[in-house]
Amino acid sequence: MEIIIQPTAEEASRLAARVVANKIKAKPSATLGLPTGRTPLVLYRELIRLHKEEGLDFSSCSTFNLDEYVGLAPDNKNSYNFYMRDSFFKYVNIDLKNTHCPDGMTDDIVATCQAYEDAIEESGGIDLQVLGIGSEGHIGFNEPTSSLASRTRIKTLTAKTVQDNTAFFGSVDAVPKHVITMGIGTIMQAKEVILLAFGRQKASVVAKTIEGPVTAMVPASVLQHHPHVKFFIDEEAAAELKLKPYYTTVFNNKPKWQQF
Ligand code: PGA
Repeated sequence: MEIIIQPTAEEASRLAARVVANKIKAKPSATLGLPTGRTPLVLYRELIRLHKEEGLDFSSCSTFNLDEYVGLAPDNKNSYNFYMRDSFFKYVNIDLKNTHCPDGMTDDIVATCQAYEDAIEESGGIDLQVLGIGSEGHIGFNEPTSSLASRTRIKTLTAKTVQDNTAFFGSVDAVPKHVITMGIGTIMQAKEVILLAFGRQKASVVAKTIEGPVTAMVPASVLQHHPHVKFFIDEEAAAELKLKPYYTTVFNNKPKWQQF
């Protein structure tokens, strides 16, 4: 695991964007796994800048989003289908036909989830999966006690996640309680993973994820088993890491061929 600590979320996001950009340059037809939420907004802004100013070309890329609320249509402003078009896709040259997000309006959730898994496989698998992390350790919407081998399926949100997302919906009651999410097994099959976490409120879960035991109670901790994972975190989110000086030393002394 590579733990990259930067003074601010902006600086960490700019470095993470470089990893995404390098992947696309090395493999123009790359398949990206993408998150939503507050955390990746600066990353998307930086990727848009790289597209506009440096010609970063998304025209051959495919994308798969992690999750969607059950019952929200793609034109609902709180749906993740909407979020992706509104925050990222409409500003770059990605072909919308190559973008995928679970269908929250499906009347056959089981078939929809299987079709999502099949589509990921048909695309050749996810080359680079970008993740945020929930305050209780979810990745995608894989809440605590999710099977570490799970595949795309329906999940029920914890009260904490509902509360964390209430600001977008106005009230607790308005937040959908069910979601479709890629599973932890699905995420772990990505060839490379980067996780972004910012702010003091993520410090405890970041420390548990990186330095605690691997446990379904902190789903993100399974990333300790991933052979190619990078964490991009700001100083605040790094506040409870025991080996912080070590991670900083490692990053500051990366051999030139390993830099990005
Ligand atoms: P946030 O959500 O980026 O809004 O904090 C992260 C997540 O739930 O994965």
